[in-house]
Amino acid sequence: MSKILLKNGEIGTIDGLMLADVLIEDGKILKVIARVSDEGKAVEADEVIDCRGKVILPGLIDVHVHFREPGASHKEDWKTASSAAVAGGVTTVLDMPNNTPGIVDAASLSAKRELIAGRSFCNYGLYLGFNGSNVEEINASDVPAVKFYACDSTGDMGVVEHEDVEKFFRMCKKLIVVHAEDHDVIEANKALVLAEYEGREIPASVHSKIRPVEAACKAVERVCELALTFGRRVHIAHVSTEKELAIIKKYKLKGAKLTCEVAPHHLMLSEDDYGTLGNFMRVNPPIRSRGDVFAMWKGLKFGEIDLIATDHAPHTIEEKSLDYLHAPSGVPELDTLLPCLLNAVDAEGLTIEEVVRFCCEKPAEIFGLRGKGRIEEGFDADLVVVDMELSREVKRENLFTKCGWSPYEKSVFKGWPVMTFVGGELVFKDGEIVGEAVGQEVQV
Ligand code: NCD
Ligand code: ZN
Ligand code: ZN
Repeated sequence: MSKILLKNGEIGTIDGLMLADVLIEDGKILKVIARVSDEGKAVEADEVIDCRGKVILPGLIDVHVHFREPGASHKEDWKTASSAAVAGGVTTVLDMPNNTPGIVDAASLSAKRELIAGRSFCNYGLYLGFNGSNVEEINASDVPAVKFYACDSTGDMGVVEHEDVEKFFRMCKKLIVVHAEDHDVIEANKALVLAEYEGREIPASVHSKIRPVEAACKAVERVCELALTFGRRVHIAHVSTEKELAIIKKYKLKGAKLTCEVAPHHLMLSEDDYGTLGNFMRVNPPIRSRGDVFAMWKGLKFGEIDLIATDHAPHTIEEKSLDYLHAPSGVPELDTLLPCLLNAVDAEGLTIEEVVRFCCEKPAEIFGLRGKGRIEEGFDADLVVVDMELSREVKRENLFTKCGWSPYEKSVFKGWPVMTFVGGELVFKDGEIVGEAVGQEVQV
């Protein structure tokens, strides 16, 4: 296979930017050549790509996406979703099991694998979901992690029986990723709201009241206690409140093996946006107060949040346009992930080092993804070349997600991916998919 040299760029690492060229061959990074020496001049390559003025990052790893196959390909399919991923700088995703049918055993997992094979522009790993009684099957599988819903969200995979949950934590040997909101708190609030609005139109903003801070905290406390009791590795998905961070910190200090993630919408949107976005920003857990949004940024800065994951959860415009009781929860995030974060770098809220840490190195480390997350010799040539100076408005017509909308439409972001390589192959360039569906399942 031919050698490709990415020349004259700067590479992003967790220690900062480095002037270096990257030589790739056979899908791997063959050499990283610092430009302080003359060594680079002698490097031979079949193709040289000039990256002057650009930054080369390890491809982002998104450990929380919903690509909707099997079962809901009218919202999204693997081709459109993986196109959105590489356009947003993401080269590896871990796809959630809340499909139809749910991915809860060897048969549904292998059927899903067959469905995806050869159709993905990005690399991928698959979750199994806990259904109350499949812990042996989960332990015997080769997936990177298992998803546990403590309440119903899209897909109704919630498991609420305490005995089943306790047995699961006692026996599960995999990394447990939790959707932590308390079922009983939500049901009680829902009944109150329905009574209050009887016969009247229900505004989207009630979503944050039906699923309040208390619902998240109660579930987080419970799973942290279980993680501590049984010594399990637990990753809390989409934290959204200051109080959850305090609980996680308390249990980390007690010795629980905990990590957590934040989604871009919990960094970018607040309850103040219901007026313009309505049910389009209905998501579980819900969008929170400005104070909690600030706490999420602080949590990243202070190392309380380990990584950023999109929770890309597309639903069609028609579905999102229904009234509150019928509009589904979830927002699409993949097309805009890196622009959203690089824009924060431009606005000085974030650094490139932090983007690499939260979106590349940490996800690879926590989920045990071999060969991913760094630009180093021997690592996979999953790379994204970004133009930090490019300003562009988020527009529907430029999105790859099948659902065809974004909560950030009309926002102008500065800093966009201009080239994405997956396994050494150029798949995305200047707003277009230019390569083949070369994505492979990850090795753990
Ligand atoms: C997700 C979906 O639509 O699949 N929805 C959401 O609001 N986040 C499910 C989930 O992750 O809870
Ligand atoms: Zn969730
Ligand atoms: Zn999700």
